Amino acid sequence: MKLPSSSATNLNKPNLRHFLKTQDYTKQELTDILALMGMLKDARRDNALPQLFAGKTLAMIFEQPSTRTRVSFEAAATLLGGHAQFLSPKDIHLGAKESLEDTGRVLSRMADIIMARVDHHDTVAGLAEHATVPVINGLCDWLHPTQIMADLFTMLEHLPSNKQLSDLTVTFVGDATNVCSSLMFACTKFGMTYKHICPERFKAPAKWVDIAETNCAVSGGKLVLTDDINQVAGSDIVVADSFYWFGQEEEKEIRLSTFIPEYVVTQELMEKAGPESIFMHCLPANDQRECTREVMESDRSVIFDEAENRLTAQMALLVYLTHKNFSQPDEATRARHQEKIGDFLATL
Ligand code: CP
Repeated sequence: MKLPSSSATNLNKPNLRHFLKTQDYTKQELTDILALMGMLKDARRDNALPQLFAGKTLAMIFEQPSTRTRVSFEAAATLLGGHAQFLSPKDIHLGAKESLEDTGRVLSRMADIIMARVDHHDTVAGLAEHATVPVINGLCDWLHPTQIMADLFTMLEHLPSNKQLSDLTVTFVGDATNVCSSLMFACTKFGMTYKHICPERFKAPAKWVDIAETNCAVSGGKLVLTDDINQVAGSDIVVADSFYWFGQEEEKEIRLSTFIPEYVVTQELMEKAGPESIFMHCLPANDQRECTREVMESDRSVIFDEAENRLTAQMALLVYLTHKNFSQPDEATRARHQEKIGDFLATL
């Protein structure tokens, strides 16, 4: 009996692309993903989503807890006809008994795409290096690119009538988090003005500034880095994020005392930002820390649209990254396999 060496449908694909950071994508490619998000959101609203991930498996590795990323990816796979598998470090051997290389190669033989939320960027980059299916960065210590696709889409949904993305001033108030960096890169790539208002001690590293300024030189965008909270004036969008995250617990007290109260987004700060400015936050939010509950519940807040758009983004990413890798079998091929297997089963 002759056996195939591998039944994997996803090896040696010339179209393999990962989604580790938005910087790996051109503005046009990101615009295409945003357009796909719009179409998939419309189709979902009409309960008429094409089954573009049918029969496919998404492997999801989580080294850190998650509500939105986990649920949105799993729901996206299901809505598009596929399946998502949750893998925590205590369930699999990654990094402990098995190398990144072997984990990436093994998952690639069984799943069609991998999403990983990891402590360190090197982990998701290492998986991508060895995987033969697309790998998506579901958050690392440096970046949160899938969040930023949801954020850009939410900005489009809430654009002031006389503006386009490149006209926006987006002001991130607070710590130089992975959302801050990813937004900085995406906003400057799209030609926006991006302000980061932050105490000197926790400002963005020079490496980020170099990337953003290179983007600005191409796009005509502008980067403003300041510790002056009054620079919030003239913002279309004010963004907040946690003052501390996993791995920063030891700095919690110094962080809170440095950021609070000056860099907390309050109603008063939103008034100062501008009469029409809106509030965004990737969530989860620490009420009364980086922002007040009053701001979160106000008419200016679009945080739950933003959260819902995590699902919109994940649907688009699953489709965008995998659609070229799957060829549908023709009817004759399908019938040939069905007949051969059926004939064999009949002999048992
Ligand atoms: N914004 C975000 O990534 O949320 P989760 O940590 O709940 O996934």
